[in-house]
Amino acid sequence: MIRKLDKTELLPMDLLLLADPSENIVRQYMERAQCYVMEQEEKIVGVYSLLPTRPATMELVNIAVDESEQHKGYGKALIQHAIETARREGYQTIEVGTGNSSIGQLALYQKCGFRMTHIDRDFFLRHYEEPIFENGIQCVDMVRLAMDLQVEDREKE
Ligand SMILES: CC(C)(COP(=O)(O)OP(=O)(O)OC[C@H]1O[C@@H](n2cnc3c(N)ncnc32)[C@H](O)[C@@H]1OP(=O)(O)O)[C@@H](O)C(=O)NCCC(=O)NCCS
Repeated sequence: MIRKLDKTELLPMDLLLLADPSENIVRQYMERAQCYVMEQEEKIVGVYSLLPTRPATMELVNIAVDESEQHKGYGKALIQHAIETARREGYQTIEVGTGNSSIGQLALYQKCGFRMTHIDRDFFLRHYEEPIFENGIQCVDMVRLAMDLQVEDREKE
């Protein structure tokens, strides 16, 4: 089951930090983001967060699944839920950004329908103090991806 986390509840920080190594940065965007959690027997096993960045644009700023529960399709289910949430709230575009070294995440977002839009070069060098490595690749650039949410509405115009 996926539900919206109430503002009075504690953030699942362990999970949020799986997706973003900087607690400072996580706390900053979580002040304005909506947080959704996936629960199993009252245990939080997954999380995603949506942040309205521009009037018609929602950004998926964080998504994570507990390490012991990965590769079961929960990540995909959370992304589909995020897309539906943003669409239902009337947003035109949903965006996401991930590291150049995040090979699995780049595959996952594209499997869910996101298309690449641009590269924010040196993003991770500018915003993170510690070097990040994944898959033997240094994470330096952010790959930006996006999806149109209201295609049918536009076709009717
Ligand atoms: C990214 C993450 C949320 C995915 O969660 P998950 O529950 O394991 O994902 P799923 O089981 O739904 O897998 C989704 C798809 O991604 C694909 N995928 C995952 N890693 C892959 C890789 N390294 N290469 C190719 N495809 C990959 C899977 O093949 C699967 O596609 P399929 O259903 O067609 O086989 C999870 O790995 C995680 O929490 N990682 C740490 C946090 C993180 O990196 N967050 C994103 C920050 S940008």
